[in-house]
Amino acid sequence: MTLLLAQISDLHLDGGERATRRAARVMDYLRALPRPVDAVLVTGDIADHGAEAEYEEAARLLVAPFPVLTCPGNHDARPAYRKALLGEPAGADAVNQVHHIAGTALLMCDSTVPGRDEGRLDDATLAWIDATLTGLPRDTRALIAFHQPPVAVHHPLPDSAMLEQPEGLAALLEAHPRVVAVLTGHAHTAASSTFAGRPLVVAPAVTWTLRMPWEGDAPADRDQPPGIAFHVLDDTGRLTTHYRVVL
Ligand SMILES: [Fe+2]
Ligand SMILES: [Fe+2]
Repeated sequence: MTLLLAQISDLHLDGGERATRRAARVMDYLRALPRPVDAVLVTGDIADHGAEAEYEEAARLLVAPFPVLTCPGNHDARPAYRKALLGEPAGADAVNQVHHIAGTALLMCDSTVPGRDEGRLDDATLAWIDATLTGLPRDTRALIAFHQPPVAVHHPLPDSAMLEQPEGLAALLEAHPRVVAVLTGHAHTAASSTFAGRPLVVAPAVTWTLRMPWEGDAPADRDQPPGIAFHVLDDTGRLTTHYRVVL
C-alpha cells in the first residue's frame, strides 16, 4: 500500500502574526490538496517559547481531516505541549508515540533534553523504540521521526545542537531493517543525507530558512516561503521525497 505523508517542521508559533500566518498558509495548502495525504508529521519546534498559549494556537491551526502527528523540539516544553496540544496530563517525561497508518508504523519520538538545544534519545526512548519495533507484525514498515538531525548538515548553527550520542539509534537501525528512513527537523533547511545506511530527510521550516555559509553570513533568511516535504513510501519500501514551498 502506498503511503503519502506531508512533513512540516519548526513553526515557532510565538503569538505573532507572521508565524501564525505562515502555519495557517501551510495547513490551508495541505487541506486543499485534491488527494488528501494519509498524515502530516510535524517534527518539533511547534512553539517558540514552550508557552501554553502557543500550544493552544497550535491546536487550533493543526486541524485537518487527516491525522496530524507531532513530536517536540528544543523550543518546546513537555508539560505545556502535553497539556495544551495532546490534551494529556502535563507530565515531564519523554513524549513518544506510535501511529499505525497504511501498514506503516510512524514513531514520533522525543529527542529533546529539557533546557538544552542539543538532542538526545534517552535510554527510556531507545528502549521504547526497540520494544515498539520488535512488537510490530512481520511485514510492517516503520519511519522514525524526531527533532535534531543525528548528522552534521554543514552549517555551524544546527551543527552546534545536533542529536548527541547517535550510536544508540544506529544500533537500533542495524537491528531493525524494517525502518525505512529517519525524518527530522530543527535545521530549518530542506536537506537529505544518510544515517546508519538509511535515508535521513530533514524537513524545511515553516518559519525562517537557514542560509548556508556559501549563501551569506546571516543564518536566518526570513524572506523564503514556508516549505513542505511530501514523502511517498511505495510497495517496494522505497521512500521518495518531494519538496514544495507555499507562497
Ligand atoms: Fe527550529
Ligand atoms: Fe530546533
